[in-house]
Amino acid sequence: MNKVNFTKVKKAVIPAAGLGTRFFPATKTIPKEMLPIVDKPTILYVIEEAMQAGIEDIILIQGRGKNAIEDFFDVSYELEDKLLKEGKGHVLESIQKIRSSVNIISLRQKAALGLGHAVRCAKPVVGKDPFCVLLGDEITITNQRSENVTGFLCDQYEKTGASSVWVLPVDVKETHKYGIVDLGVQQSDLSSGKKVLSVVEKPSSDTAPSTWALPGRYVFNAEIFNFLDQTKPGKNGEIQLSDAMNDLAKKIDLNAYSFKARRYDAGDKLGFLIANIDLALEREDLKADLLSFLRTKV
Ligand code: UTP
Repeated sequence: MNKVNFTKVKKAVIPAAGLGTRFFPATKTIPKEMLPIVDKPTILYVIEEAMQAGIEDIILIQGRGKNAIEDFFDVSYELEDKLLKEGKGHVLESIQKIRSSVNIISLRQKAALGLGHAVRCAKPVVGKDPFCVLLGDEITITNQRSENVTGFLCDQYEKTGASSVWVLPVDVKETHKYGIVDLGVQQSDLSSGKKVLSVVEKPSSDTAPSTWALPGRYVFNAEIFNFLDQTKPGKNGEIQLSDAMNDLAKKIDLNAYSFKARRYDAGDKLGFLIANIDLALEREDLKADLLSFLRTKV
């Protein structure tokens, strides 16, 4: 049988318009996606993952009064000129690479009505194309394309034509923090994918259909928008992406894949601190001093 090649995934949606209440007051005027992990805003890691996966158009969803992300990608002539003249041009490398490799499209979610609503805001730009979604406060660290979770999901989509999502095994006590997939029977290995029967948003441990959680990387067919259009406010009064995914799984197709990746939940205070420490320990300019400080504490 000939291999069918479905449309290549070239667009990514990065929702970054949440209220970030867990980081108040820091997030009153700054999106949590701009908080630094060592010296790079969280969202830069997310964009780098999308770029490495081969994405060409990055659609950022931003919230009211939080223009920091949009401003971040603008050219700051005065500052950049000064850095270049002082021989510090290397600090601009990651931003310049993004500017020259991908299109950054900025959209506004006028009220934080939920993740599903944020993704729905991208419909006029995504149109009928397949697209990936990367949560702007979830980081994965990948040195090469073969370690890239978004790249892996895009590859699965291109082979199957079905919406594909990343799942992680979590402790049963943690299910209330995530969307959880129902796969029929509990599976121990999902590396080659499994059809999702339903999706439940943040179930308690006693009602969770499995312990496979959705950590925030997805590839969708544009048909998800038809379901998002009809999704009513759900858990916490928000329009939940999980509810639209539940309809997609039941009425069309949704596949879940496990994939080994180094991942940090930077939208959570502890996850954010762990990401900072772990990544700082990989920096030659910080490692020794940070380690000797940590040794005084343990
Ligand atoms: P979270 O639920 O982690 O974000 O959403 P939050 O609501 O900002 O978090 P807390 O609990 O108040 O601290 C996951 C991702 O979806 C985006 C967030 O910015 C985050 O990247 N999001 C969420 C939106 O873009 N819009 C929304 O209405 C909700």
